[in-house]
Amino acid sequence: MTKVAIIGAGAVGMTYANTLVAADLIDEIAIIDINKERTEANAWDLRHSLPYLKSSAKQIYSADYETCQNADIVVITANARAATFDGDMDRLKLLEANVSMIKSITERVMASGFNGVFLVASNPVDVISQVIAEVSGLPKGQVIGTGTLLETARLRDMIAEEVVVDPKNIHGYVLGEHGNSSFAAWSNLSIGSLPLTKWLERHPESKLADFDYFDNRVREIGFDIFNGKGNTSYGIASVLARLTVAITRNEQALLPVSAYMTGHYGIKDVYIGAPCVIGKNGVREIFEVELSEKEATAYKKSAAILKENFSSIKH
Ligand code: LAC
Repeated sequence: MTKVAIIGAGAVGMTYANTLVAADLIDEIAIIDINKERTEANAWDLRHSLPYLKSSAKQIYSADYETCQNADIVVITANARAATFDGDMDRLKLLEANVSMIKSITERVMASGFNGVFLVASNPVDVISQVIAEVSGLPKGQVIGTGTLLETARLRDMIAEEVVVDPKNIHGYVLGEHGNSSFAAWSNLSIGSLPLTKWLERHPESKLADFDYFDNRVREIGFDIFNGKGNTSYGIASVLARLTVAITRNEQALLPVSAYMTGHYGIKDVYIGAPCVIGKNGVREIFEVELSEKEATAYKKSAAILKENFSSIKH
């Protein structure tokens, strides 16, 4: 039996829950939210989808923090009401409003005796993941932020559209902050087994040659979606579902997530998007790929921004 506890029954939390149910990825879903009435309603509504789906043998219910005790994964999607962009489209601006709520949530989860893996989506996700790691006291590998796995999906979609190839066949990573200092490791990207740079030699007219344009589109598109519908949900929910499977099936999957750095890429003591091998205990190891000098510089710049924001928190 696999069990997740979702903290935050908003658009992200419930889209993630629906993804798990529709794709038959989990046996038990506990939903925790400050708004009990909405949480109960969401649990009922989701249960009513079961009779017509592949697998109806599921437990879905509204719960309190005690339920985390035997959860394999606790997924943090909560966002404080006061955490708004106010026109300044920078996820780091959400930190001050979210940090005390996140600390309280983490303490309540740990009070249950939880010893599984935290999956973090609350923004700014890199700094929030580091707060959860610090407050929980769990081994750092057991606290994973969604990180640039979402940016990587967005870039793969853009490249797939340009090259007219299934996005599953676009390989490579966006790294760094889940946010305005993220960057694509263009020197690593490939279409199937063909390096993108080689493909561009054959297609010099492609707009894909404009790496800066696509780096900016990846950084901006989350805000375009937010401005268009008031949130983002489907992409981040699929990211959480992908990580859930990597953990519950002990896949040893290689994915770019927000992880605690201990020196790889010359970066340490900060959570940041990096290629990681993920299994039942969370991050098993950080995977070091070759980066260009420009990419390595962008990585260190992004890490410095995140470190500065983490140190700005009153600990
Ligand atoms: C986004 C949110 C999850 O980029 O930060 O969609």
